[in-house]
Amino acid sequence: MGIETIKKITKFCNTKRPLVCLTAYTRYMGEILDGNCDLILVGDSLSMVIYGNNFTKNVTLQTMINHGKAVGLAVKKSVLVVDMPKGTYETSSKIALKNAKKIMRETNCDAVKVEGGLKIKKIIKTLVKNKIPVMGHIGLMPQQANKLSDYKVKGRSEKEEKSIINDLVAVQESGAFSVVIESVPRALADKLSKISTIKTIGIGASKQCDGQVLVTEDLLGYFTKTAKFVKQYDDIRGRILRSVHKFKSDIIKRKFPTEKNIY
Ligand code: KIV
Repeated sequence: MGIETIKKITKFCNTKRPLVCLTAYTRYMGEILDGNCDLILVGDSLSMVIYGNNFTKNVTLQTMINHGKAVGLAVKKSVLVVDMPKGTYETSSKIALKNAKKIMRETNCDAVKVEGGLKIKKIIKTLVKNKIPVMGHIGLMPQQANKLSDYKVKGRSEKEEKSIINDLVAVQESGAFSVVIESVPRALADKLSKISTIKTIGIGASKQCDGQVLVTEDLLGYFTKTAKFVKQYDDIRGRILRSVHKFKSDIIKRKFPTEKNIY
């Protein structure tokens, strides 16, 4: 772990105000977001957002590395985290370590994110022991989704609630510096944030979390349908369409290219 990573993660963990976290999958989104949010995540949600899949599980290690590398070219100030995709860490500590080292080396990121709690406690411990900063992810874990109906709030039953609390404890005991809490009832999110000794980052969780994360394309308004936890701050879809129609009209009226655009 380099000195810059230590500094960035220490600053992140010592921040008293709510933490701002967003996703980036490309160099230029990384450039726009760098320094304007505390943490930038190259999430495996790119499987859905970039590649149009219904699930995150289809993404490969190499795809995550390619996008991580692109974002890594731009990110200097924010903590840069790359998701370890499904199938690259859960089965053994040895495989997890080999793949995490490859992600860290090839993308220049500061940390990796893994989904799970109790079941992967040993794996997180191994990564942390080997100086790889880890962000956990509990509650709804998209890598477990096999059908669309699997994307639902977790922790409504007492049994599920207990299991998520155990996951949080496992993640913090294994040395992760932060944990994403996704799609759980507000009361449970409040409880998790209260008992947590590490930074809790909510998505569909509650205001009591230490920070919030969203997929950047969701907040920009790329999609016609989004999860309830998304707040749309723009209508980028409408803006793109308006520009495309203006471009089309300029071409048809022979207004483009102008003198300024030709040699
Ligand atoms: O893959 C992702 O982008 C994520 C965030 C939405 C937390 O895991």
